[in-house]
Amino acid sequence: MSAQMTTSFKDIFASEEQFQLATYKKMPIAAERGEGVWIYTSDGTKYLDLYGGHAVAGTGHCHPLVVAAIRSQAEKLLFYSNLVYSETRARAAEKLISISPNSLTKAFFCNSGTEANENAMRMARMHTGREKIITFSGGFHGRTADAISATFLGKYREIGKPNVPGHIEAEFGNINSVRDVVDETVAGIMLEPIQSMAGVRTANANFFRDLKTICDEHGIILIYDEVQTGVGRTGTWFFAGSAAGDGVVPDIVTLAKALGSGIPVGACLVSDRIAGSIKENDLGTTFGGGMIAMAAVEATLAAIEHDQMLTNVQAVESYLREQLKQIEQVVAVHGLGFLLGIEFAQKAAPIHQALLEEKVISGTSSNPNVLRLLPPLSLQREEVDVFISALTQVVQ
Ligand SMILES: Cc1ncc(COP(=O)(O)O)c(C=O)c1O
Repeated sequence: MSAQMTTSFKDIFASEEQFQLATYKKMPIAAERGEGVWIYTSDGTKYLDLYGGHAVAGTGHCHPLVVAAIRSQAEKLLFYSNLVYSETRARAAEKLISISPNSLTKAFFCNSGTEANENAMRMARMHTGREKIITFSGGFHGRTADAISATFLGKYREIGKPNVPGHIEAEFGNINSVRDVVDETVAGIMLEPIQSMAGVRTANANFFRDLKTICDEHGIILIYDEVQTGVGRTGTWFFAGSAAGDGVVPDIVTLAKALGSGIPVGACLVSDRIAGSIKENDLGTTFGGGMIAMAAVEATLAAIEHDQMLTNVQAVESYLREQLKQIEQVVAVHGLGFLLGIEFAQKAAPIHQALLEEKVISGTSSNPNVLRLLPPLSLQREEVDVFISALTQVVQ
């Protein structure tokens, strides 16, 4: 056996703790291999992954179509920037636009969710010639300067000080709170259509319609941060245009997370109106639109289509909700599709911990009573049964 294969969890833990700067509170496992909804750890234990590495593994771990596309691209060309054309990029952009709501006609590729949001806000400012951005309490938009300043959730604005000026807070789901702060100096309104980190908070469909009306009345750009809700997670390709949002399509949709199945990639989808006000050199990034990321995007969308994952999400969500009704400790189930928040009368952190001991990976949120599930879109009923049996045991 090679030295690498015999490295124990204790050694991996000690080495990472010594050499990597502290960021997240980690689970005491080392992920080594993944297949679909399963993660295998360094000691060979199998875990049901209902968190997908922060909602990234939408197509599941190592989907064969995605792996093959990345491998084949890697053998041809790892990278060239936007200074040249690329068939791989052309195909990814065309595919992404073909599944987007009709009014969104162009894609800008970057590398992460926060970068997509920074660029979306910049486009709103460029288009309107105004500076202010309205976002919502409980929304999370990323950790770079402008995005963290737009994040009215917990400690984030505090750790992002000094904040970028011109960010205004409104109350999610409360249209009057928007009317109170809106005027002709506002460039954009940006929101997570389902607030994930806040504990999977939803708003009524008419909230989205009213927001669109307000934006149209005041010439404001509406931005949906679909970093979590996009790419099939809610059972439709996007929240934009879906019945849950009364069919409203914003001017800009931002994406990341599941878009590349694990290869870092972000995107802004924009309307012709927005694209018309963006000139060469207004936006840019070295890595955005690189060939490996673009191969991953095209294959991710193809895999979702090929395996009919959108219908799977809708069907398995219903099944999961039915099963959760049998567990009396579950007070409510929030969210849509595979972005679900299970609310308990008790704290969720010990449940999360105990589920891990039962070999199930789940997530917490900033609502202490809500356990978050963001599983791969390929999750099946039998795997839901594994979760339900573990949860039943844990809550008892
Ligand atoms: C809704 C939302 N927007 C933006 C971001 C930031 O994305 P990234 O971490 O890729 O910068 C996140 C990350 O969790 C998110 O959940």
